Amino acid sequence: MTDQGCIKFLQWCLPRLNYQWEGFRRVRKQVCKRIKERCSALSLTNCASYRTYLEQDAEEWKILDSLCYITISRFYRDRKVFGTLQHQILPLLVQNALESNQAEIRCWSAGCCSGEEPYTLQILWHLDLLPKLSQQLSLKIIATDRYADLIIRAERGKYPQSSLKDLPKVFAEKAFIQSDSNYILKDYLKTDVRFLIQDVRQQLPNGNFDLILCRNLIFTYFQQDLQSKLLEQIVEKLKPNGFFVLGVDESLKYSGGLLAPYLVEQPIYQKIKF
Ligand SMILES: C[S@@+](CC[C@H](N)C(=O)[O-])C[C@H]1O[C@@H](n2cnc3c(N)ncnc32)[C@H](O)[C@@H]1O
Repeated sequence: MTDQGCIKFLQWCLPRLNYQWEGFRRVRKQVCKRIKERCSALSLTNCASYRTYLEQDAEEWKILDSLCYITISRFYRDRKVFGTLQHQILPLLVQNALESNQAEIRCWSAGCCSGEEPYTLQILWHLDLLPKLSQQLSLKIIATDRYADLIIRAERGKYPQSSLKDLPKVFAEKAFIQSDSNYILKDYLKTDVRFLIQDVRQQLPNGNFDLILCRNLIFTYFQQDLQSKLLEQIVEKLKPNGFFVLGVDESLKYSGGLLAPYLVEQPIYQKIKF
């Protein structure tokens, strides 16, 4: 299967699955590799014959859909955004929680991959924010992903050095134990993260959240109509004044007047309180 063949195939099939080709363009290799393996399993020699197969078997679309995902993630990915979370957003949420006698701050990481994103928040919480607090407060995180194998890896908390390359050294040294070439997250940083296998198109976690991270998923890979539909559902899950964070290459075209940009230069939004 050639790269050109895969490109042509993806440009044909992705819109039919409600994905946008543009999101996959630069990172298509992972998906092409899975499609190639699927073709081999079906004894098909190329994408053109897989296309014919799909045209004759409606059930195969579900399998193809399950191959169309990207697993790129890192701790403290997008340094500026995590800097803002550390120095502005989390302190604001602490202040709000203390003023309203909340015992916990609730966060949702949608499309959490192998846990890099929710665990980064716990690292910031335990190593920077919590030591400055005189009252009891916890950061509870629900982290969801469609793929069980990623959730298993997240729960294991074992990472290669490359996953830590954006994480400030001071945090990396305190949060992990090195074992051979791997970095093992310390257990106390895992206790307030609950992982759930959920497809964001079908199910959202229960409850409301002070902070939702929805980065490098819906607003990169899904088509516009689906983006708008899911955004509406997700914003409902945000508490008034809660924060909504996207990936650095993502932005909202339209938020129905429910979200306001918190910072002009970063993809961080705040839910408007009516
Ligand atoms: C590119 S990674 C982004 C990970 C992380 N949010 C970040 O920005 O570093 C996208 C993640 O979304 C997950 N994903 C893809 N489709 C999904 C869906 N329909 N529902 C939930 N998670 C999904 C993938 O398995 C993957 O872990």
